[in-house]
Amino acid sequence: MKVICVENEAAVGKEAARLISAMIRLKPDCNLGLATGTTPMTTYNELVRMYKEEGLDFSKVSTFNLDEYIGLDADHPQSYAYFMDEHLLSKVNIKKENTHIPNGKTLRVDRTCSAYDKKIEDRGGLDLQLLGIGRNGHIGFNEPGDKFVAETHQINLTDDTIEANSRFFECEEDVPRTAITTGMRSIMHAGRIVLIATGESKADAVHAMLYGEIIPQVPASLLQLHPEITVIVDRAALAGSSLADSLFSAE
Ligand code: GLP
Repeated sequence: MKVICVENEAAVGKEAARLISAMIRLKPDCNLGLATGTTPMTTYNELVRMYKEEGLDFSKVSTFNLDEYIGLDADHPQSYAYFMDEHLLSKVNIKKENTHIPNGKTLRVDRTCSAYDKKIEDRGGLDLQLLGIGRNGHIGFNEPGDKFVAETHQINLTDDTIEANSRFFECEEDVPRTAITTGMRSIMHAGRIVLIATGESKADAVHAMLYGEIIPQVPASLLQLHPEITVIVDRAALAGSSLADSLFSAE
């Protein structure tokens, strides 16, 4: 696991976009696994800038998003489909048919989930997976639980996640209680993983991911077993870890 600590959110975005753009340049028809949330916004801003100013070409790229709320239409402002259009997909030259997000309005959740896994597998798996991390150590919407779940599946969101994500909705009651999330298999099978985290609210989760036991109660801890993972954090997200002590003690 490689850990890169930078000054602030903007620098996290620049570093993550640098790694993603390198993948696109090396493999123009790559499959990218993408994340939502506040953290990746600076990454997407930087990728859009690279598209506009440096000609970064998305025309052969395919994207697969990690998750979607159940019950929200793709044009609902809080849906992850809407978020992705708003922050990246409508702003670069990616083909609509190459972008994939689980359908939150499906009437057949099981079928939608297995079809999503099959689509990723049929395309040869993900070349790079971008991840954020929840305060409780979740990745995608793989919430803390008794076991790691391999497949794309329906999940009941934890109270902590509902509370954390309520900032995007008018009130906590409006936050959907369930979601579809890709499982640990497509994430762990990705050729490369880039995990980004910013702010002190993520420090405990980052610490548990880096140093904790590998347990399903901290889903991100499984990432310790991935051979090609880069964790990009700002100082606040690393606060309190022994890595931060050794990095910053000389200043
Ligand atoms: C959400 C998403 C995750 C995201 C996490 C952190 O619930 N499902 O993919 O990584 O929460 O979000 P944020 O970056 O807004 O803190």
